[in-house]
Amino acid sequence: MTATKTKKQKKAKGGDKALLRNKHVLYEASVQSPDADLSFFRRVFKRHRKADFRRFREDFCGTSLLSATFVKRHADNVAYGIDLDGPTLAWGREHHIGPLGDAGERVVHIQDNVMTADVPPVDVACALNFSYWIFKERATLLAYFRAVRAGLDEGGVFFVDAFGGQDAMDDGKEERRITDGKTPDGNKVPNFTYIWDQAKFNVCNHDILCHIHFKLKGGKKIKKAFTYDWRFWTLPEIRDLMIEAGFASTEVYMEGWDDDADESDGIFRLRKTMENDSSWVAYVVGLT
Ligand SMILES: C[S@@+](CC[C@H](N)C(=O)[O-])C[C@H]1O[C@@H](n2cnc3c(N)ncnc32)[C@H](O)[C@@H]1O
Repeated sequence: MTATKTKKQKKAKGGDKALLRNKHVLYEASVQSPDADLSFFRRVFKRHRKADFRRFREDFCGTSLLSATFVKRHADNVAYGIDLDGPTLAWGREHHIGPLGDAGERVVHIQDNVMTADVPPVDVACALNFSYWIFKERATLLAYFRAVRAGLDEGGVFFVDAFGGQDAMDDGKEERRITDGKTPDGNKVPNFTYIWDQAKFNVCNHDILCHIHFKLKGGKKIKKAFTYDWRFWTLPEIRDLMIEAGFASTEVYMEGWDDDADESDGIFRLRKTMENDSSWVAYVVGLT
């Protein structure tokens, strides 16, 4: 900071510093790829419906980054973001929706339970980052899928993600260096480490307890920034429940492997069979 900066500017800089360490900023930089998700939804929706979608429901929206990104992509796009947590919604309104100006009015926040929220009908609904795994009982997940199905217009499509593989059921921590994080106002987040911690897995009922920790530049740690007490659902269970909830059919999309880079290739393709990799992420799609 230079000596010529005014008090007001100093305050703004201090504010930015806090934003660089904010748990929502770190979370979004670590696990969210809104443009990639929305482009995937568009590709699948177009394959089946030969059109683009304009009305979108983001369940468990958290900071509603996905909804904000959706309305930015087209002037007719409208998004409904549903989440129970008022402060998280407010953070998203301040940092993602407010800055959109008039376009921000096309993101409608509904602070409610996804199971019972009153949401206008949409073309596409989603529950990402495994949020629906909060529903541990079969009957509860079925009721949730039924609620989503009832909220879809004719031809509507529902997207969820899931993870699995032998490693996914092991206790243990996985670290990833995040080098491309940006705050919502476009400042670069100093490189940091994201730690996915699978603390407990119960083989009897597939309860899984996970935490996210962050290790920041300078050594500061944010332990248990987020904790998830979930049931680990398998792909056939999810697909069967979607059908039982009234979806006409389901699809699974998974990434391929790039041998040269020795990592997944980032392209989600429709799969009927798949190798038994030690760890994987998939989208499960419910078609009406
Ligand atoms: C893992 S975050 C998901 C954030 C974002 N959707 C993403 O893809 O990263 C889970 C969110 O679900 C919300 N949540 C949990 N149970 C809920 C429920 N029954 N209805 C609505 N929101 C719920 C929490 O408040 C939290 O913001």
